[in-house]
Amino acid sequence: MASSTLHFIFFSALLLPFTLTTSTRDPCASDGSDDLSIIPVNAKCSPFAANPISGSVMDTVLHMASADSHRLTYLSSLVAGKLKPASVPIASANQLLHTGNYVVRASLGTPSQLMFMVLDISNDAVWVPCSGCSGCSTAATAASFAPKLSSTYSTVSCSTAQCTQARGLTCPSSSPSPPSICSFNQSYGGDSSFSASLVQDTLTLASDVVTGFSFGCINSASGKSLPQQGLMGLGRGPMSLISQTGSLYSGVFSYCLPSFRSFYFSGSLKLGLAGQPRSIRYTPLLSNPRRPSLYYVNLTGVSVGSVQVPLNLTYLTFDSNTGAGTIIDSGTVITRFVQPVYEAIRLEFRKQVKGPFSTMGAFDTCFAADNENVAPTITLHMTSLDLKLPMENTLIHSSAGTLACLSMAGIPQNPNAVLNVIANLQQQNLRILFDAPNSRIGIAHETCN
Ligand SMILES: *[C@@H]1O[C@H](CO)[C@@H](O)[C@H](O)[C@H]1NC(C)=O
Ligand SMILES: *[C@@H]1O[C@H](CO)[C@@H](O)[C@H](O)[C@H]1NC(C)=O
Ligand SMILES: *[C@@H]1O[C@H](CO)[C@@H](O)[C@H](O)[C@H]1NC(C)=O
Repeated sequence: MASSTLHFIFFSALLLPFTLTTSTRDPCASDGSDDLSIIPVNAKCSPFAANPISGSVMDTVLHMASADSHRLTYLSSLVAGKLKPASVPIASANQLLHTGNYVVRASLGTPSQLMFMVLDISNDAVWVPCSGCSGCSTAATAASFAPKLSSTYSTVSCSTAQCTQARGLTCPSSSPSPPSICSFNQSYGGDSSFSASLVQDTLTLASDVVTGFSFGCINSASGKSLPQQGLMGLGRGPMSLISQTGSLYSGVFSYCLPSFRSFYFSGSLKLGLAGQPRSIRYTPLLSNPRRPSLYYVNLTGVSVGSVQVPLNLTYLTFDSNTGAGTIIDSGTVITRFVQPVYEAIRLEFRKQVKGPFSTMGAFDTCFAADNENVAPTITLHMTSLDLKLPMENTLIHSSAGTLACLSMAGIPQNPNAVLNVIANLQQQNLRILFDAPNSRIGIAHETCN
């Protein structure tokens, strides 16, 4: 348990972003010490939003969702246990395909170096580009960690248990003296890979200081999907932030993702037991021993309005051998169902809304916004928890506002896909609590932006 002082500091840190957004000061201002905001990567407070977004929310979402297919391929590779360092063509790191959907401020080293890391709950580790990295982004918005400027930095030797835990690890079988530095290769995002050293330094999150935190220091990279300032993995594996901070945060965290419409505001990440909602409904968190980092829930059905959609449960049933089932993910933009499931939901939705229907990008059920008032509520049924999606999590509007689209989709071009993914658009303005020690996930409505 963290001390009560820490609890107090931490709690007030969590309230502060909410207070600030209602005052007249710049919502992006931060003194770097008390902010655990979750910032949409294209929003004003993100360093990656170079220009104010010129297009509409729809344009932004479609642009971001264009990377979903890579993300789904990546998630599928995770569930299939086929994760190995990918052989990928070296592409210019400046033509970034995708830099993640949300970023969080975190600092490494002493004195602390601020990084805007991509939040990824389906990945275990924390890793950042390190100075001198070859193949890492050279964009003006990229940043790397400079080990030489930190007095608390150290490397991790190959002979440690921690090195053994690092996924993809390869140490020389003969043990030289002194033992070599722990290094590992990893693939990420469906088209990228990197080579990193496992290192330790102080991690500062809001007012919390974690000494001797282990993370990957990227020395070389290829592909276009690596976050420009690093990744904060909140998966459940032994190297993850959650696993390394067990005594401080008890393995519990929650987030509230802001609406893509809220250009100025941000959501929040709450680490630890303090400040978590008391009134929240839970569904069991399922574990897949083959891929322990993913957060699986038991989706048992879907209702459109008052109609329970007839679904072939084969496509919903959790199976740790095949990886089939449903996960909650922070790196996919649009909720995706395996094709037969999506088609059944779409059929029922179209029955209840007046057509004609047209397609816009990933969305194939767009209709005159005038008919929006008849759009039915979609409910995701999970064990012990029915999640009625707010209408803003179900519909998205065209730039001109004349069309509304069902903001979900089937899994593109992959008839063998087995994984349903509950994604960002459907999670906005909900607090989702990940409680791995008690094997449960809580969901409550919350206006977080
Ligand atoms: C990582 O990949 C690079 C390039 O393929 C290779 O030279 C290196 O030996 C690999 N390192 C580890 C630790 O597997
Ligand atoms: C999921 O829910 C169904 C229906 O209630 C139940 O039969 C099944 O055992 C549950 N699966 C898991 C893995 O809990
Ligand atoms: C459900 O889908 C599986 C896999 O495609 C198929 O084998 C099975 O016959 C289907 N069940 C029903 C009731 O349609």
